Amino acid sequence: MTVANQEDVSVQPHNVLKLKYFDYVEIYVGNPVQAAHYYQTAFGFTPIAYAGLETKVRDKASYVLQQGDIRLVLTGAFDADSPISEHVKIHGDSVKDIAFEVEDATAVYEAAIKHGARSVLEPTVFEGQKGRVIKATIAAYGDTVHSFVQRNEYSGVFFPGYHRHTSPLKTESTGLTEIDHVAVGIEPGQLDHWVEFYKNILSFHEMHEEMISTEHSAMNSKVVEDSSHRIKFPLTEPIPSTRKSQIDEYLDYHNGSGTQHIAFLCDDIVASVRNMQERGIRFLRTPGSYYDMLEERVGALDPELMANIRDLCILVDRDDWGSLMQIFTKPVQSRPTMFMELIQRNGARGFGAGNIKALFQAVEREQELRGTM
Ligand code: FE2
Repeated sequence: MTVANQEDVSVQPHNVLKLKYFDYVEIYVGNPVQAAHYYQTAFGFTPIAYAGLETKVRDKASYVLQQGDIRLVLTGAFDADSPISEHVKIHGDSVKDIAFEVEDATAVYEAAIKHGARSVLEPTVFEGQKGRVIKATIAAYGDTVHSFVQRNEYSGVFFPGYHRHTSPLKTESTGLTEIDHVAVGIEPGQLDHWVEFYKNILSFHEMHEEMISTEHSAMNSKVVEDSSHRIKFPLTEPIPSTRKSQIDEYLDYHNGSGTQHIAFLCDDIVASVRNMQERGIRFLRTPGSYYDMLEERVGALDPELMANIRDLCILVDRDDWGSLMQIFTKPVQSRPTMFMELIQRNGARGFGAGNIKALFQAVEREQELRGTM
């Protein structure tokens, strides 16, 4: 297989082959009615479209929700033998499709197939009263797929076949603006295969970003991004025979590779986290000792900000370009699989590698205090 190097990639971006941005993320769930209510009330997404029995779709129901430029599709099946039911049976509620908006779905699909992608859906025209959408789909990691969506001749809500859908409940935004990155858990030994997949098939390049670098780490990570730097996938595989990592746990409960978390960008993480906590979202806690060491690591912080981030357990990291603040929710389903991240970037381009080490050190410091090291 020929591997395009970074220089090749930078001189070959035919505009039609470029991905514009994430179009939607479709999550297969056991109960789309309740999932839609959860993402509306807890995460602040506005319901915008629906397809199901009432719109003459016989095999599944889908709710589409939007906040800023983030669009989620929550889909569940009616039949036990549906592939959607099978996906939920194996993986639990789990991301199925990470779709990209493109200028020319057929051209992107054909280029992907030519470079070795497996076809899931050939370019297909979906027609409605408000125009047409062309969609094509290829297989990606695990049971996940990538769809290419061409919607330049469509003015309706989401997709032909969907009806406009509103909720009797008024949606209050939580300040999430766009998808910063989608993090993927990869089965051991397959990391390089999937890095090459994104490089060869979608003309992504590898970011020169060391994500995880602690002696305790039992994971290998690499980050791929598209030429616009707006679509980023950190990919992580566990290293076997070391102690069980969070990726091992993910793979065990998810039954294979899949989407580990979606990171939502926000402009005011303190306000967003406070707002979401009040709605019942549970975030990971951070030991107080992390904050005792924080300014040594990232420099002096405004005292009011410091008090807020300590109160809310927000993490801070710094790289060559600037700083970032981030926080992780607990898993959003009963299996310890997918969770969500909130991230506010003040110049930083990384993903919080320094926090992994700092969190280990904070825990060790507390162990020292307890005399249990
Ligand atoms: Fe992340």
